[in-house]
Amino acid sequence: MVKTSDTLLDHLRPSPVVAARFAKIKERPVVLEIDRLGRQFPGEHGPITALRDISLQVHRRELVCVIGPSGCGKSTLIRIIAGLDDPTSGRMLVDGKETSGPCPERGMVFQGYTLFPWLTVKRNVMFGLQMAGRPASEAEREARQWIDLVGLSKFSDNYPHQLSGGMKQRVAIARALAPNPRVLLMDEPFGALDAQTRAQMQSHLLEIWRNVDVTILFITHDLDEAIFLADRIVVLKANPGEIQEIIEVPVPRPRSLDQVHSPEFQATRRRLDELIHPKLHTPAEHLPIIRLTQAGDDVE
Ligand SMILES: Nc1ncnc2c1ncn2[C@@H]1O[C@H](COP(=O)(O)OP(=O)(O)OP(=O)(O)O)[C@@H](O)[C@H]1O
Ligand SMILES: [Mg+2]
Repeated sequence: MVKTSDTLLDHLRPSPVVAARFAKIKERPVVLEIDRLGRQFPGEHGPITALRDISLQVHRRELVCVIGPSGCGKSTLIRIIAGLDDPTSGRMLVDGKETSGPCPERGMVFQGYTLFPWLTVKRNVMFGLQMAGRPASEAEREARQWIDLVGLSKFSDNYPHQLSGGMKQRVAIARALAPNPRVLLMDEPFGALDAQTRAQMQSHLLEIWRNVDVTILFITHDLDEAIFLADRIVVLKANPGEIQEIIEVPVPRPRSLDQVHSPEFQATRRRLDELIHPKLHTPAEHLPIIRLTQAGDDVE
């Protein structure tokens, strides 16, 4: 039976099992709180408001995805939370304490490969631990555990250039988790990977998260990735970057790839599509047509 849009969107309402899970999450302490955060940048024609009035509370061991069109301030937001940039207004609290600047309690994984190329996998993961003053033997022991967790024990003496993109990001996750952060911040970490590796990394991240007491804030462009991973999805809009809607994902856990076809998944997809890709009001026949043949007459 073909479902109409309205009946499909009914599936955004969580089942009793999913609702009970959300009720439990909300009972947990708030690890990360962002309170009316704003960020302006100086622009040629006056200030650019990259973020305005962003407020969000993320509970312990919650996985929150942030999604929105290009330029809506996703990276600005996560960089501020990581302490790599300062807000122009508002504040941030971790475990109820106001904080700013970089700190091991907030680990970060970037989209680009940011491992130290001159260090082996093991030394990359040990790096943050040694910076925090751990003796080498202790740092090595702990690094081994994290490398095991991300499934790379056989590669601990390899250098980054000897690893695939997915493996590099696994090391980056191990390196970010090693100092035991309260919050793991991920800015499109799988954005540079091919579709198959990306799907594997998504399942792998959920597996890691099941085994580690960490709260995750994950930025992505990819609607399916957000639904597959998240408890809640924060949808931002651009100019200025503001929260448009926060969606509690009705898809039950544990997640698996075949849930993509479930009505809950499809309903969430439809809602995200409506928010992020609003319908064009200009009929196609009124759009300007560029005569490529004229522009490139001399091109074969
Ligand atoms: N250092 C900066 N100086 C001036 N403007 C900036 C700076 N960083 C970001 N901006 C502006 O702030 C807005 C948000 O940028 P940001 O990189 O956070 O967007 P984004 O949502 O991460 O985009 P994308 O999806 O393309 O990664 C943009 O208009 C951008 O041009
Ligand atoms: Mg970005």
